[in-house]
Amino acid sequence: MIHPFSVLDTRTKEWQSRKREWLDKYKIQSELGRDETVSKSGFWEQTNSVSVFDPVLTQHMYEWFCPPKGKILDPFAGGSVRGIVGEELGFKYTGIDISENQILANREQSDKPNWIVGDSIDILRENEMEEYDFIFTCPPYHDLEVYSDNPKDISTQTYDEFIRNLEYIMYLSSKKLKENRFIGIVVSEIRELSTTRNYKKGTYKGFVSDIVKFMEKHDLHFYNDMILFNSQHQASRTAGTYFKRNRKIASVHQNVLIFVKGNPDLATEVIEWNGKYVCKIDGKKYRTYKEASISINHDELGVSEVTRRCQSKKSKYKEWQTIGKETKPDIRYIIDSVPFESIPQINKITGIVDSHIYNRILSDNPLYRHWIKNDDDWFKGLTYREMENIQVGTEIRPQLPTISCEGLHFYSTFEAGRKFGLSKERIRQKLKDDKYSDYFYLT
Ligand SMILES: C[S@@+](CC[C@H](N)C(=O)[O-])C[C@H]1O[C@@H](n2cnc3c(N)ncnc32)[C@H](O)[C@@H]1O
Repeated sequence: MIHPFSVLDTRTKEWQSRKREWLDKYKIQSELGRDETVSKSGFWEQTNSVSVFDPVLTQHMYEWFCPPKGKILDPFAGGSVRGIVGEELGFKYTGIDISENQILANREQSDKPNWIVGDSIDILRENEMEEYDFIFTCPPYHDLEVYSDNPKDISTQTYDEFIRNLEYIMYLSSKKLKENRFIGIVVSEIRELSTTRNYKKGTYKGFVSDIVKFMEKHDLHFYNDMILFNSQHQASRTAGTYFKRNRKIASVHQNVLIFVKGNPDLATEVIEWNGKYVCKIDGKKYRTYKEASISINHDELGVSEVTRRCQSKKSKYKEWQTIGKETKPDIRYIIDSVPFESIPQINKITGIVDSHIYNRILSDNPLYRHWIKNDDDWFKGLTYREMENIQVGTEIRPQLPTISCEGLHFYSTFEAGRKFGLSKERIRQKLKDDKYSDYFYLT
């Protein structure tokens, strides 16, 4: 419905009606549980003067950045919106909030999400299992809204403490995120309210850039920055005076920051994936050849090379397979009943140099009649393992005897002559003479 543009305009009819649908259908009252909240500013859409998260934004962020049915972690759950929208769209949502009142109010609205009461630092430190597919959260904007008097509630802390703990919570959350996944943080710039001789300068704190900096420090790369364009109703009432007094521009947006852990292409493939693995390499399944290429070594192994290997019938790529189109070896030569796919492979097993191998295969000499080109598709359907077992388990006779004389096999007339005390000419005569039926050529 909404285009993936860097400005998300919440004021459109579409957006607003979808928002109403969400709120009405699931009876979402995200403002519940906020009785203790002290708000310094109506920075978000007003409902009893505290911020309420947008369900349409939530829906889009989940659908755009989380794999279907994925597990979502929210270390600053706040109201019920992100949990309810997540579960109703088929995702598995876990939301942590330090405020028990908040979680109780959320649970009353829906018990489908996994609501956890506690300090995210304590909860997330418990284990580091990489189980989540998306982190999506909206932290306190420092002390713009103070949610409680609990000193562990980061909205009660000095800016430096607040940023340090926010960084730590995002770091701990990212440890629980799978590799190649996205993180979304909704924030907004905040003004410095420090007073210099009764004078409030109100400069920006650089909150948004502080977040980007600490995320990058932990290898969580800044990938998208969207502007969520909010309703102007509130701002338009005060913007004029505000501007005349000190040239402050009324803020009518939030920043939706998207970070990536690992590779964004792979993170995308997980989202776009149709549920079928494409290839299997060294026992590991990959969703696409591209995923395999990036995971194995993208610099050295491009996608086309991975594809080629997965489609190759050569046994050196037997561990590179396209699922559903698994290859079998292409048996091109048969030496003494042993199947081979190439001349170098024969060389490896017999030690005979490639040119000799080739000559023998082409030769008419009956000594080499057991060296043949497989034009008849013998050994069709043989697996790589079966081929290797035959190759290793069978001894290849380099030559075959050519004649049979009195029940014995000989490689030449000379050899037979020596055995029977006859000349090789005599042996040849006997071979040709029908009288001597026990003298014949082996073919
Ligand atoms: C900005 S609010 C969320 C408001 C937002 N508009 C919403 O509804 O999603 C942030 C939440 O963080 C919670 N919080 C503050 N410190 C926390 C901590 N250390 N661990 C977990 N939650 C914390 C507060 O209780 C508050 O509900």
